[in-house]
Amino acid sequence: MRIGIIGAMDEEIVYMKEALDIYGESVFAQNKFYEGTHHNKEVVLCKSGVGKVNAAITTQILIDRFQVTHVLFTGVAGALDPELEVGDIVISSSAMQHDMDASALSPDFPKGTIPMFAFDSEFRADVHLVKLAETAAERLQGPKVKIGKVLSGDQFIADRELVEVYSALFNGTCIEMEGSAVAQASFLNEVPFVIIRSISDKANGEAPASFAEFTALAARRSSDMVETIIESL
Ligand code: ADE
Repeated sequence: MRIGIIGAMDEEIVYMKEALDIYGESVFAQNKFYEGTHHNKEVVLCKSGVGKVNAAITTQILIDRFQVTHVLFTGVAGALDPELEVGDIVISSSAMQHDMDASALSPDFPKGTIPMFAFDSEFRADVHLVKLAETAAERLQGPKVKIGKVLSGDQFIADRELVEVYSALFNGTCIEMEGSAVAQASFLNEVPFVIIRSISDKANGEAPASFAEFTALAARRSSDMVETIIESL
């Protein structure tokens, strides 16, 4: 077993990096990969950078170069579910791209659907990892925990109306910029994955300020969850 952990930004990997006993460091595609152990489990940690392309590249490297057997994403997200507050937790049941749109081409390609793709465009997280995440979340006293659909796109969303649109169109629980790419790359390589996100903002007009203020807190919560998942794997 070797567990790949991805965060998009320094703030999202810093706590995990502190927790790891790091014995190796290497660079692929301009990204650093830290090999180490945590609770006697082999772990490879990396920062993907922001956005779906970066996330997909990093996931493929973890799978090809490090032969990871599990992929966990840790980070922060904007809330879509109105019950979610800053610091609450989302565990992915699935992930999809909200900015994939070939609907002009054919009614067979509704928004969010990857055209001419042999598989479902909504990528299901590994049921066992979701269960372990749920159990890990019970240890965190305080935050609300939701298992739901993670929406990803190459946009930082700070618009209440878009929140309504994406909620209605895709029934998403939270919105971010990497999860579905990690999910797609993992799925295509048949590697189990789960996305863990803690809420930094509500994707509305206050989102930029909220993101700046609460990313550290939310990233810590998500990272704590991932540590517990590693322990229990
Ligand atoms: N990550 C955290 N908050 C976000 C938002 N509002 N939109 C996209 N990605 C995010």
